[in-house]
Amino acid sequence: MGSFCRTHTCGDLRKEDAGQEVTLCGWAHRVRNLGSLIFIDLRDRFGITQIILDPVSTPEAYAVGQKLRFEYVLCVTGKVNLRKDPNAHIVTGQIEVFASQIQVLSESDVLPFSVADTQMDVNDELRLEYRYLDMRRGTIVNNLVMRHKAMMATRKFMDSQAFIEVTTPILGKSTPEGARDYLVPSRIYPGAFYALPQSPQIFKQILMIGGLDRYFQIANCFRDEDLRHDRQPEFSQIDVEMSFARQEDLFPIIEKLVQAIFKECKGVDLKAPFRKMTYADCMKLYGCDKPDLRFGMQLVVLDDLAKKTSLSIFQDIVNGGGTVKGLTVKGGADISRKDIAELEGFIQTLGGKGLAWLKLQESGFTSSIAKFLSEDVQSEFVDRLQMQMNDAAFVVAGPEKKVNQLLDHLRRKLARARNLIPKDSYELLWVTDFPLFTYNEEEKRMESEHHPFTSPNFDDMQFIDKEPLKMRSSSYDLVLNGYEIASGSQRIHDTVLQEKIFTTLGLTPDERASKFGFFLEALKYGTPPHIGIALGFDRMMMIMANTDSIRDVIAFPKTQKAQDLMTKAPSLVNEMQLKELKISVK
Ligand code: AMO
Repeated sequence: MGSFCRTHTCGDLRKEDAGQEVTLCGWAHRVRNLGSLIFIDLRDRFGITQIILDPVSTPEAYAVGQKLRFEYVLCVTGKVNLRKDPNAHIVTGQIEVFASQIQVLSESDVLPFSVADTQMDVNDELRLEYRYLDMRRGTIVNNLVMRHKAMMATRKFMDSQAFIEVTTPILGKSTPEGARDYLVPSRIYPGAFYALPQSPQIFKQILMIGGLDRYFQIANCFRDEDLRHDRQPEFSQIDVEMSFARQEDLFPIIEKLVQAIFKECKGVDLKAPFRKMTYADCMKLYGCDKPDLRFGMQLVVLDDLAKKTSLSIFQDIVNGGGTVKGLTVKGGADISRKDIAELEGFIQTLGGKGLAWLKLQESGFTSSIAKFLSEDVQSEFVDRLQMQMNDAAFVVAGPEKKVNQLLDHLRRKLARARNLIPKDSYELLWVTDFPLFTYNEEEKRMESEHHPFTSPNFDDMQFIDKEPLKMRSSSYDLVLNGYEIASGSQRIHDTVLQEKIFTTLGLTPDERASKFGFFLEALKYGTPPHIGIALGFDRMMMIMANTDSIRDVIAFPKTQKAQDLMTKAPSLVNEMQLKELKISVK
């Protein structure tokens, strides 16, 4: 490798630079040998510059050019010339560099996939195995740049609000966020394990007890849970906690933080305050706790009307404690019988029994359940569903939880199919007043809906002994375009109440002591009221990058099966390591 001294990046040069002698370094993105001249698109992170090699005036450089292949790393020195045919698609499109010298700094083997052809559909696994080549295709690097800007904006904003960034331990004790822990064996204490943090939850609360007042961290979290397109086993949170504060104090801070991130990364001005809706209203109107508000189609309860039909299944369901709900599709009367049959199939694959439809057209009212509705009841359905001419409506009956789930899926499917989702729009929503507990049917036990440190809504304390499932909590989520991007709560700062919650969750005194003894001890020594939240940083970046895979915004992500295909982690370790840890693998 020869010496090199880069004077500019491949994204720097403009027409004003014409006449200058420059040295650029980068990859041979494209090489076109036209016989009379060789054209190279030289690429680095900052852009692409066209290089020209001429056999007559610079025969040595031309000779090197003849041997070049894609992705060779080059150092090129030459003069900046104005282009005869400017390329409006790139920022350096008005100039080219007429090379006097060219050095190959590094050669490249034949690539497993094209870096230059970004339209080429490359298998996901191959992209992950050769992540560095995938990065050279641009999108991933752009996303990493956006991530960096978001982190900088976060630190700048949080600092301006007197929040202190504190690094909490990675090797620690299990945190109760509901997923399985990743465990790390201790060599010094055979049989004992550290747990990687599912979140810094307990540490940040203890920082409040320590008097830090305002904490934040861009924290790495680890959860061994089923992966999805918006979940990774290892992910980052913007984790926040503050003392002597309530929801009214925290929400505006988080809104300003999200605004600062959007402004910095996307140049978008988000309107604040963000909308707010209770969990109960969300479930009623959207059938889910993270509604996408970029489109309408709210759900409508039809229980009383269902009873007025002669459809026994509707009546049985409502009388048996179930529900009948529907949604209206504006202009949906054009949905064909075939498409309706497809929607019915969709509902059935999700475990639904059926899907009734209604249409209002010039030719009159038609419905899959028309014969069970008197004329009066027909118009009551039309009114309640706010159907106008050429609208369609869909109706589902069953247990409330199931109906909500089905209509939520149907609503989102219809919005996609009918292009109802506006591009580049960001709809934020605070969802508040979540239930405090849920019942885990499989494990037959009570669980915290958020986590066990969440304060109950004190208006519901009368239910704690006999009907804890009726209790609301002081927790909230922030929802962006149908994704939960943050979650938090007012915390319990009183030992007696914390013990009571642990008891309701069925933790024995021994379990309490071994899992949370240190925390209960800390709570005793003057704990300030405190509140907090964690924003799913990667998930937010995913939405801002306009991708539906969280992997696209993480430098080295894992597959759905939690593998790193590039390094081949997780991998077996040698006997010696296991022996030192006193571990034997069955
Ligand atoms: P929670 O568990 O709801 O709350 O997590 C907060 C946010 O983190 C994101 N998130 C994830 N992102 C990617 N991959 C995952 N596996 C994953 N799991 C969660 C989500 C979620 O809203 N300690 C509490 C916060 C608090 O109470 O302050 C907590 O971690 O966007």
